[in-house]
Amino acid sequence: MDRSTEAFGLPTFEDRPAAKVNLTLEVLGRRPDGFHELRSVFLRIGLTDRLSVSLAADSREDSLHLSGLAGSPTRDNLALLAVAALRHRFGIDLPPLAVSLDKRIPIAAGLGGGSSDCATAMRLAQACWGVKLAVDEEMELAARLGSDVPFFASDAAAARVEGRGETVTPIPVPVSETGLLLVTPPVKLSTAAVFARFDTLDELTDDANQLWPAAASLEASLAPLRELLELETRMQWLMSGSGPTLFALYPSVELAAEAGLALVEDRPADLKEAVIQAVDLVRPDPTWRYP
Ligand code: C5P
Repeated sequence: MDRSTEAFGLPTFEDRPAAKVNLTLEVLGRRPDGFHELRSVFLRIGLTDRLSVSLAADSREDSLHLSGLAGSPTRDNLALLAVAALRHRFGIDLPPLAVSLDKRIPIAAGLGGGSSDCATAMRLAQACWGVKLAVDEEMELAARLGSDVPFFASDAAAARVEGRGETVTPIPVPVSETGLLLVTPPVKLSTAAVFARFDTLDELTDDANQLWPAAASLEASLAPLRELLELETRMQWLMSGSGPTLFALYPSVELAAEAGLALVEDRPADLKEAVIQAVDLVRPDPTWRYP
């Protein structure tokens, strides 16, 4: 739950927005609004950002302080958009907020970090103002902020996610493995570009993630990377979301970390620009990471 601390008399609410991976992702069709009808199994993982929200006593507008990984948007950051959307929804004069975001989840990587920040900002902003939307109103606003936001707003450990992303059905965690090895290559893939490429491809894949051929055709280094990972680890690797992060499930985070270490020792040249992290499903930080 949120921690609330008092700094100079002003309460600060803070939490750790978690990342996700997609265990499956089916694209069922294109909708009239241009979005795609999806069916996906989302799994929350133990890799988090740090987000805090407090009343900005000496400011006339909301502010965002970013630290950690570079590359997160400042002006159109989903955490700030969440605050603005809520203020608009309540339609009353709610004071400016100071949002502080320490990025640890790789950005534009298919791990849902920005969407998770957004869902957490919605919750912390309401706590700060002492207001509360009804659950269905909150989910509806979450869906308008981004397709992955309702899953994070639901707080489920795992869920079947359908529609554009707005239909979230919590399910028991559908895997017995508790460790994951994540490999994020130094490639940015825009979700919109991957879906647009998907629309131009004729054949559906039998891959667990139907966006894989689109992502692999936009970024030529992805398929050889996946082959290398499968060859070296003798595990099945999947792409999360619209990529480019690839992941494999391990019985434990310790085994995932061992596999990661072996990878960077055996193939240093192929992986030198990738971020590799061994995580479990609940801890806030990776057990092992490279570099
Ligand atoms: O909703 P979000 O802003 O995350 O979506 C980013 C882009 O991904 C959309 O503009 C759209 O092109 C594509 N998308 C889609 N169908 C979905 C989710 C996203 O086509 N269900």
